[in-house]
Amino acid sequence: MSEPKGSDSQAPHVPVLLAEVLDALAPLEGARILDGTFGAGGYSRALLEAGASVVALDRDPSVLPHAERLSADFPNRFKFVPGTFSNLDELADGPVDGVVLDIGVSSMQLDQAQRGFSFMQEGPLDMRMSSDGESAADLVNNLDEAELANLLFAFGEERKSRRIASAVVAARATAPISTTTQLARLIEKTIGRKPGDAHPATRSFQALRIAVNGEFDQLVGGLFASERLLAEGGRLAVVTFHSLEDRIVKRFFDPEKGAPTQSRHLPQVVLEAPRWARSGKALKASSAELARNPRSRSATLRAGVRTAAPARVMSYAGLGVPLSRGAA
Ligand SMILES: C[S@@+](CC[C@H](N)C(=O)[O-])C[C@H]1O[C@@H](n2cnc3c(N)ncnc32)[C@H](O)[C@@H]1O
Repeated sequence: MSEPKGSDSQAPHVPVLLAEVLDALAPLEGARILDGTFGAGGYSRALLEAGASVVALDRDPSVLPHAERLSADFPNRFKFVPGTFSNLDELADGPVDGVVLDIGVSSMQLDQAQRGFSFMQEGPLDMRMSSDGESAADLVNNLDEAELANLLFAFGEERKSRRIASAVVAARATAPISTTTQLARLIEKTIGRKPGDAHPATRSFQALRIAVNGEFDQLVGGLFASERLLAEGGRLAVVTFHSLEDRIVKRFFDPEKGAPTQSRHLPQVVLEAPRWARSGKALKASSAELARNPRSRSATLRAGVRTAAPARVMSYAGLGVPLSRGAA
């Protein structure tokens, strides 16, 4: 597969698995594609350069300058719509041939200390992509101890969640926890740090970010909205960055993977016609991409082609979505 030109040397976010995403959405010439996670517009620009029209969504208003540049470069083929991808079928403004979702935070969001996504930089404990609703500080300072522990365990797979929650509750009795580094230091002091391991706050920050932005609800909503929007032959490509998200995408494309093993003593369950064909295989970054962009290490692409079977009613059943009482 040849390296696409579609990267913008000015873009602060390096698009991951770009060649593979373009391949999954092909043919692109004359196609109408919905980019549900515009970011710095790396995918959108590459899609436009390959001859597609693009309608792009993002919930973060700070991406607007990037969208304005693409509108100037492709005035008749690019449109930006602010909003969330969980209702992309309503925001698409007409039929599309393909949908791409690149889930998670952008490098711009991570790098701007005042957004509060990074435990490496001092900033307010915020983490809201769209700057509305509850912030991470609201959750950390207001959830009760059990709810906080459940959230860290379910959304961050943090095995020391109870110890962290207990330390947070003790610390906030004196003063609210309001900054990223304050929380990161507290977690490090509570559960320790082993040389060579990821920072001990990594899992807790992931959990809080997922809860603040309702990321699993958004992902499930976006997948089913794509199923409703795409007609037979339509393509869906989804890039995820951790195993909890990838499991949801995998089971969405192939519901049999999430189904309980059938017992020969029970009546056979009649399997429904598949909604997606050519789906299931997980693609990872090549060694060349890994060398160029270490962030691509955790990225997984799954893609599928829509069949003629009618769209399912949205359901969480069988998708393995982590549940956390007290999550946003
Ligand atoms: C990983 S970045 C996308 C980068 C993009 N593919 C590029 O090449 O520049 C993810 C973007 O999706 C946005 N986002 C995350 N969740 C969203 C949601 N539920 N609805 C709309 N946008 C969302 C974030 O604000 C962020 O800008």
